[in-house]
Amino acid sequence: MARATTTYVCQSCGATYGRWQGKCESCGAWNTIAEESVAATGVGGAPVKGGAKAGKTRGRAFALAGLDGANDQAPRTETQVGELDRVFGGGLVKGSVILIGGDPGIGKSTLLIQASARLARMGHRVVYISGEEAVGQVRLRAERLGLTASPVELAAETNVEDIVATLSEGPVPRLVVIDSIQTMWTDTVESAPGTVSQVRSAAQVLIRFAKKSGSAVILVGHVTKDGQIAGPRVVEHMVDAVMSFEGEGGHHFRILRAVKNRFGPTDEIGVFEMTGKGLREVPNPSELFLAGRDLGAPGTAVFAGMEGTRPVLVEIQALVAPSTLGTPRRAVVGWDPARLSMVLAVLDAHCGVRLGGHDVYLNVAGGLRIAEPAADLAVAAALVSSLSGAVLPADAAYFGEVSLSGAVRPVAQAAARLKEAKKLGFTKAVVPEIARGETVEPGLSVQAVTNLSTLVADIA
Ligand code: TYD
Ligand code: MG
Repeated sequence: MARATTTYVCQSCGATYGRWQGKCESCGAWNTIAEESVAATGVGGAPVKGGAKAGKTRGRAFALAGLDGANDQAPRTETQVGELDRVFGGGLVKGSVILIGGDPGIGKSTLLIQASARLARMGHRVVYISGEEAVGQVRLRAERLGLTASPVELAAETNVEDIVATLSEGPVPRLVVIDSIQTMWTDTVESAPGTVSQVRSAAQVLIRFAKKSGSAVILVGHVTKDGQIAGPRVVEHMVDAVMSFEGEGGHHFRILRAVKNRFGPTDEIGVFEMTGKGLREVPNPSELFLAGRDLGAPGTAVFAGMEGTRPVLVEIQALVAPSTLGTPRRAVVGWDPARLSMVLAVLDAHCGVRLGGHDVYLNVAGGLRIAEPAADLAVAAALVSSLSGAVLPADAAYFGEVSLSGAVRPVAQAAARLKEAKKLGFTKAVVPEIARGETVEPGLSVQAVTNLSTLVADIA
């Protein structure tokens, strides 16, 4: 039987200590360790019950093959927000818990009230619980978004026991939105709302509700870069899926990305645009990322990339300028800096392109973050174009991985990339050798390069 204990918990990463100390050994943060007392709780903050009941299903094993018979209703519900369903892996899974994190003000509440409204309009019970705004404020926002006709149940509540009691009345909700998990608190823990133990324990109560009732629960979590608010990071391992909602300052579009997903892929992205009337879905992101392109400027190349199953064309911008610094500057937005260093080294060693005395700036237009090595070729083209001042053809798209030897290697899904380029009016594609024969798009001239030096000679 557990008894009331005092622990010292790092408010940034959730590490626990037996006594106070100034620095957290686990995450390295200073002055983040606070005293928290946990009243008679079991493992991880679960309230201790007086002895477990021996249930019928307790300890019983089930055959994997027999499980489909147990699904008496469709396990997924589409929210009708296509970009959201895409990232979820085809809709909300019954009894699943999803954490959506993001900077304050990025649009999490807006996204979720819109999704709730759509789902409620289809006749499902949807409960939106706001711990940050009063019901009136949420309603005001919904009014501005033109969603007042939608039968979403709103509640301003922060105590999870009260919330579970509310939710247990009436039919099982198809979706419950908790905005945000940092404002929630449970009676079983004494520390203030927002502390690591409160966030963790409150999440546990809500997760238990989801699993028991079959209702899907979305938890909203604010993440701040300086880690001042107890990070919802501590609940990441407890939930079924973790999504991050991101956007670059100054840009109108927002990207929803799955960081972890037990029920779907993690490489799909959902793209939205923030407008005066809320978030608008962007089913064809290439058009957005290529809008406002400066066609006559050197240093830009269009990369034909893949985000999950969807091809996305995006502009890569490079600026190369003689440096006045001892160590030239390398600044990258939207791509891996180590990957840039590698491309620069290959250009230097195998293609005679010397950038050791130049500052190099690389930017992926529109705030997209690219993780694919397939962008190497487009990056190299943009760098060489900026250095030489030669403008790349505006109707050419690039993809291909560059190896350390300077060889251009084939990448996956060449056909889908070429098809998207063709669809968006590109007439030329510069690609690795293998993609040429494999995929012929009528009206698209495909130039295969086997070596980066060929490309450099072509441009300069
Ligand atoms: P919000 O959803 O409150 O962000 P979060 O819940 O992630 O903190 O979004 C707030 C921002 O969105 C705010 O700066 C204004 C902007 N916004 C619009 O541009 N248009 C709209 O229709 C709405 C509702 C918000
Ligand atoms: Mg909000």
